[in-house]
Amino acid sequence: MTLIEKPAETNIYLNDLIARRYSPRAFDPNKSIEHDKLLSILEAARWAASSSNLQPWRFIVAPKENETEFNKILSVIKEGNIPWAKNAGVLMIGVINKYRRPDVLNRHASHDLGAAIGQMVLQALEHDIYVRQMGGFFPDKAREVYNIPEEFEAYTAIAFGYKTSDLSHLTDAHREREMAQRERQPMESFVFNGDWEQTADFLK
Ligand SMILES: Cc1cc2nc3c(=O)[nH]c(=O)nc-3n(C[C@H](O)[C@H](O)[C@H](O)COP(=O)(O)O)c2cc1C
Repeated sequence: MTLIEKPAETNIYLNDLIARRYSPRAFDPNKSIEHDKLLSILEAARWAASSSNLQPWRFIVAPKENETEFNKILSVIKEGNIPWAKNAGVLMIGVINKYRRPDVLNRHASHDLGAAIGQMVLQALEHDIYVRQMGGFFPDKAREVYNIPEEFEAYTAIAFGYKTSDLSHLTDAHREREMAQRERQPMESFVFNGDWEQTADFLK
């Protein structure tokens, strides 16, 4: 059986990693992520841009070999994501420091966490490791389980893993979505100039 590939369908030039990236659920339950590759992925986050170089991201990281920590992250993930997330090689929770200074919110903290995760995703893919992010987790439960202080906020859960061609461990609905084509809005719908929602002149 061959691994599913879902390259971006476009006639416009794209960097190979960006074109290849997609978010699978079919992770190989028998494959761990090597220590050096995990470090490489985290190093990619470290070198992301951030507002005032505040580096507001924090990551709680659980490789599957550490069963206690892995199950701890699974315990804060919503039920719908568990059937596939449990097969990941590494689970993480992305957390932001909400504050720029003790009395000033950092409006860009979640933006910068996203940028750091974006870099992790592409660095992972260079190692053939795929990523699926999850809004479907319980931030309040994460706060409780990990003693996350008030000034920080758990923002997203992230699954990293090697793909498998064996889709038998997915639910029927997830199996169908795993094979479905990827869809995107046309550029005209989100690239503006002149006025709000006016398609940019260079696209016409
Ligand atoms: C912040 C964020 C939250 C997401 N939450 C979930 C989730 O809880 N469960 C899930 O299966 N996929 C989740 N996804 C994956 C998206 O559904 C997926 O990225 C989107 O459908 C586009 O597909 P692609 O990444 O394969 O291009 C999330 C993605 C992001 C970026």
